[in-house]
Amino acid sequence: MEPKRIKRIGVLTSGGDSPGMNAAIRAIARSASAYSIECLGIRRGYNGLINGDVISLDARSVDGIITRGGTMLYTARCEEFKTEEGINKAVNTCQYLGMDSLITIGGDGTFRGAKDLSDKGIHTIGIPGTIDNDIVCTEYTIGFDTACNTALDAVDKLRDTMHSHERCSVVEVMGRHAGYLAMYVGLSAGATAILTPESPVDFEEDIFEKIRHARISGRSHHIIIVAEGYGKADEIAERIHQETGIEARVTILGHVQRGGSPTARDRVAATMMGSYAVELLKSGSTNRVVCMKDGKICDFDITEALQMSKELDPAMQKVQKLVSI
Ligand code: F6P
Repeated sequence: MEPKRIKRIGVLTSGGDSPGMNAAIRAIARSASAYSIECLGIRRGYNGLINGDVISLDARSVDGIITRGGTMLYTARCEEFKTEEGINKAVNTCQYLGMDSLITIGGDGTFRGAKDLSDKGIHTIGIPGTIDNDIVCTEYTIGFDTACNTALDAVDKLRDTMHSHERCSVVEVMGRHAGYLAMYVGLSAGATAILTPESPVDFEEDIFEKIRHARISGRSHHIIIVAEGYGKADEIAERIHQETGIEARVTILGHVQRGGSPTARDRVAATMMGSYAVELLKSGSTNRVVCMKDGKICDFDITEALQMSKELDPAMQKVQKLVSI
């Protein structure tokens, strides 16, 4: 049987923003327009769906946004949407607007909302947009590459001053409960140690002894990357100072990692994922999340995805220990 023709697609961004979200919105609006499907932008995440905060998105209204970080639709975390009453209000808005399909861009929390709406008969597709890269069913989430490069640029600058003062830099990066961002930043920055929530660390062997050995063999400075989900950077710096006698300084990179013009990798991933989401809706799919597997765009069941847990790549962990001397 032919899938029912969709009339109107809504798109929203929810949770923490990430560079490339705008590129995904653009691809959705333009792909929908190419298929003569109307597209509405829901502002401020699920709040906008509850309150009917909606704008029309045609092919021209997304001009120029591919270069911009953040999200032109604004974003929010919505407590009301976690209640049955909030979900019902959102469904009413969709019905009132004649919006039979919805694309939600964000992380785990965003996909939980998409599943709730799919259960109520709204066709929903999720697109992974978070700098944390912590969505289980996909090897890539929009914004991760830009965030890594922003953090890397900062660490490279820190290295200059750490070298001059012969210090140790302890840098905290974002990632919520996941260590992906820390692992990528640490490997690309040539860090002495990378502390992530996923992997245990023996402080004596993996940090203090490494620093002492590096000093003896001629290295003047050290970089330690700490995932925010691991623990307090201040305490780690203090312990390094006490155990090695080397001055340590803490830098918390914070929200700067979420901003900036998206890299080519993020623009391409967002564009391909955005357009794929429209194709999924056209084919009658619902409750699917757009993913990347072996570098190819594909899709996965949202309910299943929400039950899995993501591991750090063991090969990266092994190599990090080998090369960080
Ligand atoms: O999920 C993205 C993220 O930037 C996390 O890395 C971080 O823990 C969190 O959002 C910060 O959230 P907020 O912007 O609400 O402070």
